[in-house]
Amino acid sequence: MMSTEKRGSWGSRSGFVLAAAGSAVGLGNIWGFPTQVGQGGGAVFVVVYLASVVLICLPIMLAELSVGRAAQLDPVGSFLALIPNSRWWLVGGLGILAGVGILSFYSVIAGWSLAYIWFTTTGSITGDADTIITFFSNFTANGPLTITLTLAILTFTATVLIGGVQSGIERATKLMMPVLIILLLVLAIRAITLPGAAAGLSYYLRPDFSRLSDPAVINAALGQAFFSLSLGMGTMLTYGSYLHRKENLLSVAGWVVVLDTGIALLAGFIIFPAGFSISGFDPSTSGPGLIFTVLPRLFSELPGGQLFGGAFFALLTMAALTSTISILEVPVAHLIDTHKWSRPRAILVITAGTFLLALPSALGNGALGVLTQLPLIGISFLDLMAAVWNNFALPLGGLLMAIFVGWVWGTDDALAEIDRQNARHPSLPIWVFLIRWVCPVAIGVIILYTAFSI
Ligand code: PFF
Repeated sequence: MMSTEKRGSWGSRSGFVLAAAGSAVGLGNIWGFPTQVGQGGGAVFVVVYLASVVLICLPIMLAELSVGRAAQLDPVGSFLALIPNSRWWLVGGLGILAGVGILSFYSVIAGWSLAYIWFTTTGSITGDADTIITFFSNFTANGPLTITLTLAILTFTATVLIGGVQSGIERATKLMMPVLIILLLVLAIRAITLPGAAAGLSYYLRPDFSRLSDPAVINAALGQAFFSLSLGMGTMLTYGSYLHRKENLLSVAGWVVVLDTGIALLAGFIIFPAGFSISGFDPSTSGPGLIFTVLPRLFSELPGGQLFGGAFFALLTMAALTSTISILEVPVAHLIDTHKWSRPRAILVITAGTFLLALPSALGNGALGVLTQLPLIGISFLDLMAAVWNNFALPLGGLLMAIFVGWVWGTDDALAEIDRQNARHPSLPIWVFLIRWVCPVAIGVIILYTAFSI
């Protein structure tokens, strides 16, 4: 086993919380959450999402952090170190595959955001709602441009990672997070005060419980919660492996969950009031283009909108980059720790592979239904990737992690790692119950229910 120092470690507690929050906060909060709420019927999705975050994801985050810090290795190496000669390392393997799969479509959307910095600052997107939608369709149909943007995102991510863990990730996140939150608050206040905003607020906040019987809504909310909190594929495990022994995992996990969920909810307070202030707006059909078509309209309603728009997409791109960095770190840490590759070689090979897998998403996304659709299943490659990895691979990874920590490695060892200070926080027995019973049963039922109803 390698020492913490040799693998790099976090400079400070707030540095780690910010870096883990930087991984969690990204396109998932500001692009994914409103898009999914729109497709999932509004407030009912929000209710299932919040329940998933508290009852399932928070316990699993603690489990991942404790495994990583106990073993001090990458996901595959950690399982092998804790339970040698077993097949549990395959859970880490699944996470590594999920990492490459998620990064492949994530970098495409991050590339769209990068381009929108330019479009909004230069005032290229003007006109009514239809013109803005057409602009987005034409832009995403421009293959050479979307491929170049995807490559730019991947290249930047790889360059930051070559610098090692602490210096690159911590510095970027410390700068970005407070500014992002302030800007979101300003935009939410403006959106809520637009004419017509009330309909958006009621769509977002008043649940229609009849949709609770739809397994697709429940599955999508669970998958979105995993995706948004960077869980189920070993990212938090890997980050935990760089965390000092003296840190309190409970408060670290609590902070990350509160920040991430707060920012996602805030994004909803911008998109739905602003969206419903546009006549004919239908959140259920907007798909991946939702924020790219609603927000430019909002910026045009603001004094200095070009500046606001540019700043918003710059921050969104930076938030996406702190997430891409954490996703790429998972397969890279594996090649370094388990296969003894050099860091630059691992980064180069994984980045090149991810870029190849990103090509069909960059070229054939189904935004607004005007671009290439996959013939048999009628959805775009990008939507397919998002559904497979987010809705199935991440919850499956979480399910196996809960079984591993709850029943195989054991909650006693995990608790010893979580509660090194022996503070015996009263929530710890609740955590044991959730990780052993609630997480495996709830995720198992949701996956089976969804699989049988497809
Ligand atoms: N949580 C990130 C977001 O919400 O944008 C995406 C992500 C990062 C997913 C890291 C998975 C992961 F391991």
